Amino acid sequence: MAIEERSFATDRMTQRNFRYAIRQAKGVVLVAYRQAPDVQDAQDDPQPGAYGVVGFHAGTPFARLTSFAVAPDQRGQGLGRRLLTVLEQAAAGHGCRGMRLEVRADNAAAIALYTAAGYRRFAEYPDYYEDGMAALRLEKTLTRHG
Ligand SMILES: CC(C)(COP(=O)(O)OP(=O)(O)OC[C@H]1O[C@@H](n2cnc3c(N)ncnc32)[C@H](O)[C@@H]1OP(=O)(O)O)[C@@H](O)C(=O)NCCC(=O)NCCS
Repeated sequence: MAIEERSFATDRMTQRNFRYAIRQAKGVVLVAYRQAPDVQDAQDDPQPGAYGVVGFHAGTPFARLTSFAVAPDQRGQGLGRRLLTVLEQAAAGHGCRGMRLEVRADNAAAIALYTAAGYRRFAEYPDYYEDGMAALRLEKTLTRHG
């Protein structure tokens, strides 16, 4: 929740959304923990540095990346790219043939990350977010190994 609040001004996941994603939804929720200077500390009190939520849905071969964020002080170190790769591997391991997501049209950092990772734009939803911003719909074909 702390990462969520620092990462999105609108359309945030609520605690209830996270609980549902973790306990009930078909999909995967992954957390990347911060590198602690002292390994003992990391084991005692692991602090999330990034998270990603992917849903699997009946009737479509596409997994959906529903939320994905890196804590502000952990950005720019390759953590987002690595976490995305592991989420893709999890989706491919589940049998999904592709990943789809929506991203704000003004989110340059995320669009750059997804484009570098092989996503392409296939549609756009105008007026998608609470503040009226459009969403770009992106997708990537996954191989068996992600
Ligand atoms: C988008 C986000 C997940 C990127 O995470 P990150 O760990 O900083 O990204 P990485 O360090 O792995 O960067 C991977 C690539 O993404 C692109 N990228 C990342 N941040 C960027 C920025 N600020 N400007 C331009 N490109 C950027 C680059 O292509 C980068 O590759 P490079 O370092 O070789 O140039 C992070 O900025 C974030 O959490 N933002 C707020 C939440 C959000 O927008 N989530 C996505 C919702 S769809």
